Amino acid sequence: MKKIINIKKKIPSFKSKIEINGDKSISIRCVLLASQAIGKSKIYNLLESEDVINTLRSIKKLGINYKKINNFYEIQGFGINGFDTSKSISLNAGNSGTFARLILGLLINSEKTITIKGDKSLSKRDFSRVTEPLKNFGVNIVSKNNMLPVKIVGSKFLRPINFEEKIGSAQCKSSVMLAALKTPGVTKIKAKRSRNHTELLFKTLGIPIKVTSKKVNDTIEIKGISNFSGFNYNVPGDISSSAFFIVLTLLANNSQLIIKNVNINKTRTGVITILNKMNANILFKNKRNYKGEIIADLFIKSTKNIKSINCPESLNSSAIDEFLIIFLVAAKAKGVSSFKNLGELNQKESPRLDIAVDILRQIGVKVERKFNNIKIFGNPNLNLQGNYLINNFRKDHRIFMMSYIAALVLGGNWKIYDKDSVNSSFPNFFKIIKQIKSKKN
Ligand code: S3P
Repeated sequence: MKKIINIKKKIPSFKSKIEINGDKSISIRCVLLASQAIGKSKIYNLLESEDVINTLRSIKKLGINYKKINNFYEIQGFGINGFDTSKSISLNAGNSGTFARLILGLLINSEKTITIKGDKSLSKRDFSRVTEPLKNFGVNIVSKNNMLPVKIVGSKFLRPINFEEKIGSAQCKSSVMLAALKTPGVTKIKAKRSRNHTELLFKTLGIPIKVTSKKVNDTIEIKGISNFSGFNYNVPGDISSSAFFIVLTLLANNSQLIIKNVNINKTRTGVITILNKMNANILFKNKRNYKGEIIADLFIKSTKNIKSINCPESLNSSAIDEFLIIFLVAAKAKGVSSFKNLGELNQKESPRLDIAVDILRQIGVKVERKFNNIKIFGNPNLNLQGNYLINNFRKDHRIFMMSYIAALVLGGNWKIYDKDSVNSSFPNFFKIIKQIKSKKN
């Protein structure tokens, strides 16, 4: 099967209105929480991507049924002890770090050993950031070199923990929060701020949670409970997927785009803050609150005079999945942009910082790198004519989409592997490209 795609033409100017699929982080959390509720939950606009499908298949293996009815998924939970873990089984997380890390928190009361496996890319990622705190609840977790496969066998004698989360990883924080839900007593987490969807969902579902916010940290206290009820949830649009189309519009010629119903939760909008500091004028209209999440329609126009940025480190966490596409904007900016302390990018689906620097250099952009800090020497006249091959060895969805957008706005003749990688997070990526290109908007 040919997984390579060839792009030879820049995108012509466009005016379009689109809707992006449901948020990946919220979709996975909704499925996992519905699997712990008592009774039926209905999840609307669930992202139907491979990461979420692997989540659904895994809860099914643990005895939780789901079905798609019209435009929602119905999930039948049996409460927080409702997983069937009476047999040793293995779950396939595929490419999903979020699912693999969060499910471990929910397995701390498993009866038999449950093994979590993943694809090649996920099997190269560190799991000690979740297995170490989870062990303190009193469970047994084994893995080789802190990587997948990870084997977990739960305990009946769980004890609450005090945990300090220092990386700013929402996966790590959420895994411990899900474990806390099942553990009698109060678990206390001091966490470097990161996306807070789990906290908001806990509040919506009536799970006892107290969050105290300081400058860069949140203290989260969770009281273990015996049950909560099934719920209805309508997943808002994914800002991380939207970011590729925001940048496509910014860097295209004379174009305009409206993206409807995007989640603009403050812990996720670093990309908008950064791009607006670079002279973009991205507007939020029709803002509303949905169960604690803030949703808006985004209005974007092409910008000719993009300027460089000295990116404040305080925005690293809220733009963590968007730096690849932000680097592309920096490459077209007037002046030198600098980004600091981005080591976490190398902990993602592929070593993204290393690969992004390689791609930028390959297309003739000057990049200086010191440890995890980079400087990108922008060129507003950057226009490509050569041949570019992006190997994307780890099949990273965001490396693919960054390269694809680069090809559409910079020109040149690009060959990019692996087009199927978009299915991890953004199965409609090509459909939306087609919609934007067709004049029928
Ligand atoms: C996610 C958290 C982030 C992000 C990932 C999704 C989540 O990872 O990069 O795409 O849903 O909690 P880290 O927790 O490793 O920062």
